Amino acid sequence: MSATSGLQVEELPDRVVATLARPEKRNAIDADLVAALHALCAELEARPRLLLLTGGAEGIFAAGADIAQLRDRDRLDALAAINAGIFARIRALPMPSVAAVDGPALGGGAELSYACDLRVCTERAVFGQPEVRLGIIAGAGATHRLPALIGEARAKELLYTGRRMDAAEALRVGLVNQVVADPAALLPAAHGLLDEMAKASPLALRLTKLAVDAPAAAHPALDLAAQAVLFEDEEKRERMTRFLDRRDRR
Ligand code: COA
Repeated sequence: MSATSGLQVEELPDRVVATLARPEKRNAIDADLVAALHALCAELEARPRLLLLTGGAEGIFAAGADIAQLRDRDRLDALAAINAGIFARIRALPMPSVAAVDGPALGGGAELSYACDLRVCTERAVFGQPEVRLGIIAGAGATHRLPALIGEARAKELLYTGRRMDAAEALRVGLVNQVVADPAALLPAAHGLLDEMAKASPLALRLTKLAVDAPAAAHPALDLAAQAVLFEDEEKRERMTRFLDRRDRR
């Protein structure tokens, strides 16, 4: 386990668990935390593994960008895409990621969870985009990722009003994949999802993520090229042979 600048990183054989750890500021995302997330991404790009990203089960995921830093940022800082850049890097990681959310995920905190491929949360989770009330836009992914996740009208309602969405609504509209009642069950639920993914061929999983996240114009060409790579992958032959020999049918 290593801890740098508000992020604890635990390396497991097939996955990395990264825990936001700035509780005194409700895991507000400051420049140090952004740097720590970039370091995490560099590791996962060099040695691709699954990612579990969480604020732990202590009742906070992340209260958004650090408003104390945000207040003093100028237009050049905005154009530097400080949060948008790291969230895009997380989304583009080679292997899938799961966000485990307990308590508020607001502003940039909510956008950080949208950057992950899947979300699980506790009943006390809330998601919201209060940016307009602070005089800015939700500029780190919510304007495009949120409509893709929950539809244009619902996304606009959240973005225009700053209303907070509770866990039951988040499940109903498809923002989260699973809600657990007991906070102690949050990380096991996220690990359970990752355990299922870990049964896959890592290369097939990786190319599936590339294909799903590709723009519409890339289909079907990208899918065909990905499948061509996998059809000649030795692991595909082994996995299919195991199935046919009735050695492995899960
Ligand atoms: N940036 C910087 N500091 C933040 C912060 C943020 N986004 N969110 C919380 N903090 C700080 C508070 O200023 C406070 O610091 P202090 O103890 O030095 O005064 C500390 O974290 C605790 O915050 P507090 O509001 O007392 O905690 P809470 O548990 O009562 O409420 C939240 C938690 C998340 C509901 C509340 O802090 C909140 O609404 N945060 C802002 C959310 C937001 O507007 N985010 C959008 C940013 S773009």
